[in-house]
Amino acid sequence: MRIRRFDSPADLAAAAARTFVAAARRAIAARGGFSVALAGGSTPRALYQRLAEARLDWSCIDVYWSDERFVPRGDALSNEAMARAALLDRVAAPRVHPMVCAASAQASAERYQRYLPPQLDLVLLGIGADGHTASLFPGASALHERTQCVVAARGPEPARERITLTVPYINGARAVWFLVSGADKAAALARVLHGAEDPDRTPAQAVARHARRVTLFADRAALP
Ligand code: 6PG
Repeated sequence: MRIRRFDSPADLAAAAARTFVAAARRAIAARGGFSVALAGGSTPRALYQRLAEARLDWSCIDVYWSDERFVPRGDALSNEAMARAALLDRVAAPRVHPMVCAASAQASAERYQRYLPPQLDLVLLGIGADGHTASLFPGASALHERTQCVVAARGPEPARERITLTVPYINGARAVWFLVSGADKAAALARVLHGAEDPDRTPAQAVARHARRVTLFADRAALP
């Protein structure tokens, strides 16, 4: 895993934005397009805001999500709504693939499976204070899914119903980035990096230790 540590959340966002723009331009030049799964939570918002100011050809970029809360699409809890407000509504992005796309989380997961490409160029993820990543929570059965690319899952209140990419699908991406900020993440991040392997306790280990090309963007509070 490549570790990049920053003095502040703003420095983290600026570096992630520069690296994102370079990766997208390289993929578009080499393969004619770029595919990314966006993360939810709050850490990536500053990255998305910076990407809205960058010069990128969004007509060549397919936008997916690594996880979503099963709530109405404009809801304050919606990962899609956050990404739209910070980024997608501010650029011309015609290739956006929302995860909430059917009447239930289960039906959305089944339909999303058909939209996903065999391999994503980049999956963005966060890490929760409990060690979860995407909507793969400690002890959850979704963590052990081996055949599907996306499944319905359970999370804590106030958004119990979730949809999430699975470990084997995430780990098959060309690149995976974790964006981790804040002192409340330090213990979980230390377990991801140095703890005994126990993905039921710290689900992010299942990705961080086994995906193809992993980069950790962390600030000093999360990685003292
Ligand atoms: C979600 C997320 C989740 C998130 C982490 C970190 O829908 O809740 O996608 O996995 O990435 O909880 O969130 P923060 O960036 O807010 O710390």
